[in-house]
Amino acid sequence: MGKILVVDDERSILEFFEIFLTQEGYQVETSEFPEKALERLHLQKFDLLITDLSMPSMDGLKVLENAKKISPETSVIIMTAYATAESAIEAMRNGAYDYLMKPFKVEDIRRTIRNAVENINLKKENKKLREKLEQTDVGLKRFVGKSECIRTVTDLIRRVSQNRASVLLWGESGTGKELAARAIHELSNRADKPFVSINCGAIPENLLESELFGHEKGAFTGADHSRVGLFEAANEGTLFLDEISELPLHMQVKLLRVLQEKCVRKLGSSIDVNVDVRVISATNKELDIECEKGLFREDLFYRLNVIQIRMPPLRERKEDIPLLVQAFLKKSSYEQGKEVKGVSGEAMEKLINYHYPGNIRELENIIEQAVALETKSLISASIFPDKIKGTTPRSYVEVEKSTGIPKAGIDLEAHLNQYEKELILNALRLTDGVRKRAADLLRISFRSMRYRLSKHQIGHEDETL
Ligand SMILES: Nc1ncnc2c1ncn2[C@@H]1O[C@H](COP(=O)(O)OP(=O)(O)OP(=O)(O)O)[C@@H](O)[C@H]1O
Ligand SMILES: [Mg+2]
Repeated sequence: MGKILVVDDERSILEFFEIFLTQEGYQVETSEFPEKALERLHLQKFDLLITDLSMPSMDGLKVLENAKKISPETSVIIMTAYATAESAIEAMRNGAYDYLMKPFKVEDIRRTIRNAVENINLKKENKKLREKLEQTDVGLKRFVGKSECIRTVTDLIRRVSQNRASVLLWGESGTGKELAARAIHELSNRADKPFVSINCGAIPENLLESELFGHEKGAFTGADHSRVGLFEAANEGTLFLDEISELPLHMQVKLLRVLQEKCVRKLGSSIDVNVDVRVISATNKELDIECEKGLFREDLFYRLNVIQIRMPPLRERKEDIPLLVQAFLKKSSYEQGKEVKGVSGEAMEKLINYHYPGNIRELENIIEQAVALETKSLISASIFPDKIKGTTPRSYVEVEKSTGIPKAGIDLEAHLNQYEKELILNALRLTDGVRKRAADLLRISFRSMRYRLSKHQIGHEDETL
């Protein structure tokens, strides 16, 4: 059934676990001393290690770290008092499977452990299958790109898909947040369970609660039938909360409760239903700033942000543009039944020069449109919208870097000015035009920023931003 090792410096807790877990049908060993427990781990295979967080000779995080080295296939559950929830989250970050809050609720222990052991068994059973699956990388197949930053993202996706920690995807619009969320789900052991997605910004405030948690018949006017909420629909699977920053404050409180208690209560009901849901949320706002402004609850941010994945904007990974163009060309020509095979050199240069405020989605649309309009098998630059056609041939600075100083010499003053202007424009783009933050980014005072903006005649409504 499952072999479990429990470590805690309190005898009474060990005794409780010994009796309880034996009754539940597990094989149990206990130890008061972390060092001894780690020795046991060396000698024997355990499916699960349950360890207390604060113990006099070695804390639980250290036990976790050592256990992962000694026996990586043993899952670890951390026990902790509510007051030290931060460390529990830290533990999840470092590879713990789950955590148990003290004071314990028996039902909570039973479910958490059953979950962990089922997960282990599933892992064992599916090992071969999964190895095959991982080779083909179902979930990441659709991720086009070879740049360093996209590789960091895909590596992280692969790693976090192996536990159930909450993930916060943060990135500008169109950077692939939803794609990433789906990939995490597809690579996880929840892949054959539902992936349920909700856009928190798109649902009227008064319907959100019933949407998320469900309602009983008659809970409010118009509730003719009882309805299951998305949390329950996603049970044992993954719930994707898109545009989480748009969740109203009173709903944030309710969401936090569900995440803490791992159970939901339908509107108009008095019964809690247990749910086992992995939560992935996404935002294009900086949630920590929303917290500072009082628009987002810090405790909820903390829960959702156990692991954060930043989706890089396309302008930071321009080297991926040719690959993406090729992939989208293939897709669009197939869908439109056309035979467009590539883009001309000039067209590719224009595509690389553009700064893509709408990121990958924008590039995808541009290619789709171009395929629709093009009559030849090679896309030429003239077919692109003005914003692309108008891009200048590579940055001033890049040209100089690659060619050095031309024989005719250069005007240093003019070059430096041009470079300065480009950096300021880029900083403004990165900060959505917020001058104060752009100044911070360039480490100059706001006053100096104002001076430079007027020097370069960069206006508020400058359409290049
Ligand atoms: N690395 C990638 N390779 C190929 N296609 C990608 C990649 N990243 C994103 N896409 C495509 O770009 C489009 C936008 O992606 P997605 O919807 O996941 O972005 P998003 O960050 O959720 O955007 P928004 O914030 O606007 O909701 C989708 O069609 C997706 O398939
Ligand atoms: Mg999205």
